[in-house]
Amino acid sequence: MRWLIILLSLVFLMACSTPQLRPQAQAVASAHPAASQAGLDILNQGGNAFDAAVAVSAALAVVEPFGSGLGGGGFWLLHRASDGKQVMIDGREVAPNAAQRDMYLDPVTGQANKVASVNGALAAGIPGLPAALVHLSEQYGELSLADSLRPAIRLAKNGFLVNEHYRRLARFRLPVLASSEPARSIFLREGLVPELGTRISQQDLAASLESLARDGFSGFYRGELADKLVSGVQQAGGIWDKQDLANYKVKEREPVVIDYNGMRIISAALPSSGGLVLSIALNIIEQYDLAAMDEATRVHLVVEAMRRAYQARAQYMGDADFVSVPTEKLSQKSYAWTLADNLNLKAAMPSQQLTGLNASEGHDTTHFSVLDKAGNRVAATLSINYPFGSGFVPPGTGVLLNDEMDDFSIKPGTPNVYGLVGGLANAIQPNKRMLSSMSPTFIETEGSVGLLGTPGGSRIISMLLLAILEAEKGAQASSWVALPRYHHQYLPDVIQHEPGALSDELKAGLIAKGHLLESVGRTYGNMHAILWDKENGRVTAASDPRGKGMALVE
Ligand code: DON
Repeated sequence: MRWLIILLSLVFLMACSTPQLRPQAQAVASAHPAASQAGLDILNQGGNAFDAAVAVSAALAVVEPFGSGLGGGGFWLLHRASDGKQVMIDGREVAPNAAQRDMYLDPVTGQANKVASVNGALAAGIPGLPAALVHLSEQYGELSLADSLRPAIRLAKNGFLVNEHYRRLARFRLPVLASSEPARSIFLREGLVPELGTRISQQDLAASLESLARDGFSGFYRGELADKLVSGVQQAGGIWDKQDLANYKVKEREPVVIDYNGMRIISAALPSSGGLVLSIALNIIEQYDLAAMDEATRVHLVVEAMRRAYQARAQYMGDADFVSVPTEKLSQKSYAWTLADNLNLKAAMPSQQLTGLNASEGHDTTHFSVLDKAGNRVAATLSINYPFGSGFVPPGTGVLLNDEMDDFSIKPGTPNVYGLVGGLANAIQPNKRMLSSMSPTFIETEGSVGLLGTPGGSRIISMLLLAILEAEKGAQASSWVALPRYHHQYLPDVIQHEPGALSDELKAGLIAKGHLLESVGRTYGNMHAILWDKENGRVTAASDPRGKGMALVE
């Protein structure tokens, strides 16, 4: 009997110390409470994390029209528990077939026309989000596409209430929204920013979602809706063709995997620059003992790593289906070490002295994370680029189009709306995907799994870098998302930071090393993260305190 008790105790102890293979709860964290709830509802109806991701993506398209939508694209990073498959679903927009490298340059002066790549029908790439939702549902889901789209259709019909955040972004994009009749009638009231609490219902968008639910890919990319999209774009001076829509293809990409100090970081592959930029920065940082450094030296090192990684982005990165990108070289540790050769812990390196090419913030675009009880995960970042995208809605569709064409390098060395420069690798070519910074990411350690990401244009990647360094210290998801933020992107050669992010002492230390500092005037980013502690099965989730999102664990 005694032996039996000892044996049973041993078995019990072993069971306790074996990492749990399944989370004890499911979680959804997104930028809008109604979208998080839509995801949870789908999980509770027997859907898996992939069905929930379809529901959250579609709901965000309705309730955050300034951030993402059917007229845009995104990246969905997946982990399937049954076989451990990790894949990135690439639903990035592509340039229309009639696009040309110099289409935004003045034919006489050669100057970049920065308005045409941002406002109106000519700024829109061919959307990828609807095709990605079909793919996610068909290839990975348990429920039908129609089931997963139901919450979004209901939200579009019933409407949502305007909050302060909506008002601020609508004010920012007022002239362009007012100049497209359908956009004006959906998103404004008598040509003005709607009052707080105004109900925005979107009947045309509901019908477009219903068409997608009914006919899948063809419901958006062929037939009546496609005809309306194309003729609307053409009448407004755009260059879409019916073939552009019919030919759109979702791609499955192998994610970038980074081994960093015993952690495994899984992040977005090209055409997102996120994974590679993170890889370069982390491989540089890994050479040093961060914990042994004073604060100014630590921040300086992280900034110098960002500077070099973003320089590689500008010089080499673009859609690898079209240009040759030395991906393998860029992700090697030895490459990062050579970049660190001229890294001086005492002094900033002016960006102009880095060899190679010399050529606002994060409340539009959106990120969400989902974990189900089987351990399936999705981290997804979706976008129509600038707030309210191009501001253009083709009549009768309710689909607000993106202005993602501005993410191409429209002229070598000319900064885009996020101040990013690029070269030929990211030049416009027909059917090519524009380089992105969107970086849905998983952080895996022996005992835990994290899911995270954020909007924020060029600053997306630096926000993730800071969050990964925080996770390395064993911090909780709530502190990853709340962390004060600073950023360097090679050019402009300045450390941008949130107000109050750097103490006076730290600023003095960085200035003494030769850095220029610039407060960006307000906070940025809207990160949504989930952390599953595999030792005890506990799941926690957090939404960025800067936004209005909601993290639900159940
Ligand atoms: O794909 C990109 O990198 C951009 N279109 C993302 C834009 C964004 O995050 C805007 N948020 N502030």
